[in-house]
Amino acid sequence: MRTPLIAGNWKMNTDSSSAVALASEIAQRAGEATDAELLVCPPSVYLALVKDALGEAAVGLGAQNMSCQPQGAYTGEISAGMVTDLGAKYVILGHSERRHIFGESDENVNKKTLAALAAGLTPIVCVGELLEEREAGKTAEVIRGQFDGSLAGVTAEQMKSVVLAYEPVWAIGTGKVASPEQAEEVHADLRKQLAERYNGEVAESVRILYGGSVKPDNASELLGQTNVDGALIGGASLKADDFLAIAVAGAAVAQA
Ligand code: PGA
Repeated sequence: MRTPLIAGNWKMNTDSSSAVALASEIAQRAGEATDAELLVCPPSVYLALVKDALGEAAVGLGAQNMSCQPQGAYTGEISAGMVTDLGAKYVILGHSERRHIFGESDENVNKKTLAALAAGLTPIVCVGELLEEREAGKTAEVIRGQFDGSLAGVTAEQMKSVVLAYEPVWAIGTGKVASPEQAEEVHADLRKQLAERYNGEVAESVRILYGGSVKPDNASELLGQTNVDGALIGGASLKADDFLAIAVAGAAVAQA
C-alpha cells in the first residue's frame, strides 16, 4: 500500500509572513488528513522559517530545486547539503517550469537526482508532455524519454526512495486538468517502465503523483485512479483550505 503524498509547490509565491501563516495553518490542521503524507515546498529562502512554523506537525518540508554541485563558485545556486541542513527531506526536480523556462535538460535533472539521492534527499522527479506533443500522439514516447534520461544510473535500491510526478505541461496553472483516464494511462505506463527497468517490487513501491490544476473538486477522481499516488499542487496549495481538502480526498482514497 502506497501512502498518498500530497505536496504543495508554492513556486515563487508568498512573502515571509504569509509563508509562515500558511505553514502554521497547515500544521495546525494536519490531523484532518492523517492517512495522507503532507509536504510543503516553499521558496528556498523561506525553508527555515517554514520549518519553524511547522514545528512538530506531521508535515514534511521540501525545496523546489537545487544544484547538482555540492559547493563552490555557483552564484545563486543552493546545494543538496544546504537543503538538508535546513531540515528539508524532499526536493522537486525537473519541474516543467525548470525545463521550459530555465532550459533544464534530462541530463541536468539526472545529475541533480543523483546528487539529491547521495545527500539523502527524496527527489520528486517531474515528467510531462507539451500540448503539441500530446496532439501529435507522442505522449508515451516523450514521457519514456524523460524517464530514461532523468533517472539514468539510479539503482533499484535508490529508486525506492524516488517519487515521480506526471505533470502534463498543458495542465499546469491553466485550469485544464487531465482527465482521470489520461492521467491513469501515463501513470500505468510509468509503473510498467519501473517494472521493466527495475523489478516488480520497485514498481509497486514508487509513488507517482499527478500534477496540473489539481483542485478540491477534481482531487477525488484523480486520486482514485489505481496508479495515482498523490498530487503535486501549485495554485491550490497556496490556500490552506484547498490544500487540506485535496489531502482529505487523498486520505479518503487511502482508507478505501
Ligand atoms: P498547478 O501547478 O496546480 O497550479 O497547475 C502544478 C505544478 O506546477 O506543480
